[in-house]
Amino acid sequence: MTHMEENISLKPYNTFGIDAKAKYFIRIRTEKDFQELIRTKIYQDNPSLILGGGSNVLFTKDYDGLIIKDEIKGISVEDETDDVIHIKSFAGENWHEFVMYCVQNNYGGIENLSLIPGTTGAAPMQNIGAYGVEMKEVVKKVDAIDKINGSHRSFTNEECHFGYRESVFKQELKEKYFISSVTLTLTKKNHVLNINYGAINDTLKMMNVTHPTIQSISDAVIHIRKSKLPDPAQTGNAGSFFKNPTIPWQHYNELKERYPSIPGYPSENQMIKVPAGWLIEQCNWKGKRINEVGVHSQQALVLVNYGDAKGEAILALSLNVKSSVKEKFNIDLTTEVNII
Ligand code: FAD
Ligand code: EPU
Repeated sequence: MTHMEENISLKPYNTFGIDAKAKYFIRIRTEKDFQELIRTKIYQDNPSLILGGGSNVLFTKDYDGLIIKDEIKGISVEDETDDVIHIKSFAGENWHEFVMYCVQNNYGGIENLSLIPGTTGAAPMQNIGAYGVEMKEVVKKVDAIDKINGSHRSFTNEECHFGYRESVFKQELKEKYFISSVTLTLTKKNHVLNINYGAINDTLKMMNVTHPTIQSISDAVIHIRKSKLPDPAQTGNAGSFFKNPTIPWQHYNELKERYPSIPGYPSENQMIKVPAGWLIEQCNWKGKRINEVGVHSQQALVLVNYGDAKGEAILALSLNVKSSVKEKFNIDLTTEVNII
């Protein structure tokens, strides 16, 4: 097992760049490291939080417990046919590097999810999604270790209860399991290309691509993301702070009368999804800065830390944004980022 550190700054370990402190901090490099950790007194006497790349968390105060930094590496082929491959990634692999590895080897299915920060182990937590694809479309199984007794459990795709930015690991089994690996089913030929998301099509045209491949789609997605989203290495952020809300059609139609340009995308159960970025922009928050925190000027759904902001300041801003949207549109925004 690796060395237990005490009273360390979490600033390098969260993309918001919040300088919160952790009472204890340990890196986990193998599943056995974790099995050993759970038998220690520090683990048993303290609350603990598993951290991957820290790209979907907001620390609002010091963490009075143990941060378990997932660094379990490795990629292996479980089995394959002429058509598909079942590929396993241990949880601490970097998601984007894993996507690049798959694209380079001509394994299709996750190219639209290029450049999403974080680890492969955190990816099923909120069923990461972008540009018309969600992780749930390729998950074969998720392997996890029980945080109390150390036993292994394998979750099938159905057992993960995936939804929009949701899974069983954020709901019923919140903080109960350490996800140790994910196994995906990817295509080796006859790839299903998703280019319907408007911006991808336009970008492929701009790149003079007439016959899209998983490589050119990945390139297009990377190009779009770089033009819209702030790079956490430059400006602290955790991607979309809120989820896109879904509202009943009747509510949407009422809003449409007052705001004819309101966008909406039909969703399940007679509901319609409205882009939170649009709602926030309409409340004049886009590009606003208050001391060290703000709402990004290119993407109103992204809250940013311009320097040395405290997590409480980001949280306070998010609550103000949320109440503006509630007041103007009578829509409740829910946070996507995990508030700690
Ligand atoms: P962390 O932030 O470290 O953890 C997130 C949560 O998962 C925490 O609750 C943590 O306790 C838990 N967790 C982490 N690892 C494990 C594990 N092994 N076992 C059990 N629990 C664990 N998300 C999207 O869906 N689509 C996007 O397009 C997207 N774009 C982004 C763009 C930017 C610039 C940024 C900064 C973020 C973006 N995100 C996006 C959000 C984020 O990248 C994803 O949610 C990512 O999967 C988080 O991975 P992580 O390793 O950083 O997780
Ligand atoms: N919009 C605005 N103003 C803004 C931002 C967006 O009006 O400032 C409107 C526009 O109408 C635009 C629409 O919102 O057409 C959608 O915007 P965009 O394509 O940028 O996507 P999004 O809905 O804001 C979602 C995900 C992102 C993901 C992108 C691309 C959520 C919460 N966010 O953003 O995921 O990368 O789509 O698929 O679903 C994340 O989860 O962290 C994340 C970045």
